[in-house]
Amino acid sequence: GLRKRMNDKIVLELDNSNKAEIYLHGATVTSWISDNKEILFLSSKSVFDNKKAIRGGIPIVFPNFGPWEKGPQHGFARVKKWTVIEPANKVNDSISVKLSLTDDEETRLLWDFKFELIYEVTLTKKSLKTNLTIKNLGSVEFDFTTLLHTYFRVDDISNVRVQNFVGLNYVDKVKGRATETEARKEIQISEEVDRVYASTDNTHLIDTGSSKVTLIKENLPDTVVWNPWIEKAKAMSDFGDEEYKNMICVEAGRVNTRYALKFQEEITMGQTIIVQ
Ligand code: BG6
Repeated sequence: GLRKRMNDKIVLELDNSNKAEIYLHGATVTSWISDNKEILFLSSKSVFDNKKAIRGGIPIVFPNFGPWEKGPQHGFARVKKWTVIEPANKVNDSISVKLSLTDDEETRLLWDFKFELIYEVTLTKKSLKTNLTIKNLGSVEFDFTTLLHTYFRVDDISNVRVQNFVGLNYVDKVKGRATETEARKEIQISEEVDRVYASTDNTHLIDTGSSKVTLIKENLPDTVVWNPWIEKAKAMSDFGDEEYKNMICVEAGRVNTRYALKFQEEITMGQTIIVQ
């Protein structure tokens, strides 16, 4: 019910017109309102049962992008309950919170490593920064892929343009696994799209027709672009049949090669979204 949902989420509020919401389930940012405008897409069919991944916002993919032989698709981070380690803290014009996820019996059964993930979400009037620090707390190296699966809200997908992919290699997951080269200056979506672009520029401009947002990646070399389009939308139980018109996923990740993290080491990866 609603009460349970309220207890399970953190609200970052700068003022009435600028706020964000983060569910402890998956540390999923589900809403970001900048100057009274919602920037993120959240499906009206999303299930909040603390089991299934939330359909929308910014799910965290870790320790595996895509189908995983050891556990659930996209890993376990988006379906585990995270803990607040530093409550919402307002400093000047920004407010931030820190959440953490550590290995437990359930994660070790799938992936037998000792780790801590620290997720810092920082909101300003014009930006949302989400930084993920991965710590190896064990005595052996582990490797992983990771990604911030951001769903951007758009009024009409046919007006959307995404920049900075020209000349890059990508794997087209709709057509198969073969690598192709992007010829377009701007990506437009008019069919099912599921592409993994390798070694992308650190910045992408997403022009939704009615607004422009910039996605800046840090330590996340790849970018996935996804829209399920008509048939796939119908096939997903937690996604409305028409909602493909109102979203685009532009996902900053480290997915083409696994990152090897030595024991007792840590690394921070993340993104900042800026509204223009
Ligand atoms: C994208 C993948 O990142 O996530 C797609 O490239 C996948 O292949 C999509 O369909 C959604 O995944 P899920 O597990 O949330 O349905």
